[in-house]
Amino acid sequence: MSPINRIAGSLTTRETDADAPASVPAPHILRIDASMRHGGSTSRQLVDRLIDRLVTRSPGADVTTRDLTATALPLLTEPMIGAYFTKPEDRTDEHRALLGPSDALVAELKAADILVIGTPIYNFGVPAALKAWIDLITRAGETFKYTENGPVGLLTGKKAYVVIASGGTRAFSEIDFAGPYLRHVLAFVGVTEVEFVTADALMQDLDGKLVEASARIAELVPQAA
Ligand SMILES: Cc1cc2nc3c(=O)[nH]c(=O)nc-3n(C[C@H](O)[C@H](O)[C@H](O)COP(=O)(O)O)c2cc1C
Repeated sequence: MSPINRIAGSLTTRETDADAPASVPAPHILRIDASMRHGGSTSRQLVDRLIDRLVTRSPGADVTTRDLTATALPLLTEPMIGAYFTKPEDRTDEHRALLGPSDALVAELKAADILVIGTPIYNFGVPAALKAWIDLITRAGETFKYTENGPVGLLTGKKAYVVIASGGTRAFSEIDFAGPYLRHVLAFVGVTEVEFVTADALMQDLDGKLVEASARIAELVPQAA
């Protein structure tokens, strides 16, 4: 059975290889796909490659896929914000219902050891679906907390890989508001160990960029000789 378990649109599912050594826990990998494209998507293709290498390196790893095209995530509304900032013990059934999608995404993220995000740059930033996901996982008391010294991220001990594809915008240039934003928001929730794979300005040199991005993936996730 393939260790890669792709479930478009489902909240969470995992499979574990019974043969994995008991002493080395297999990592849980959470894959987030933000491209609205499928077959022709460079970010999805590179994430496939990266995850194949992660799973080869750690047999028994399981992969939960959150394809942001599969289910429309709710956008924040005033009642949802009210529910966010109501203490858990004071929440009504309506609050709990409003928090359902966010709670599910937060649980999915908390359960992950490794987060892999694949995203295009759309209009110089992240796709709206990825922003919606970020708005649902950035939760006071759940993924960060306020302290006397300012906010502190709670999702420590995780590693993230972010694959970014773009047509012309150079990743991390002054007009890229996706890469720096993702780095910042991940750190805000405590994910500070982040590696970026960029397949940027693809219109100029698609083949060359794919070769470079693949080499970067091989360097980040080396395989046994
Ligand atoms: C709605 C839309 C907006 C886009 N905006 C930008 C942009 O601001 N900068 C850029 O370099 N490319 C932009 N692109 C091009 C995509 O980033 C590029 O095609 C990328 O490969 C898409 O990722 P994917 O191949 O994983 O689908 C845009 C594409 C679309 C469809």
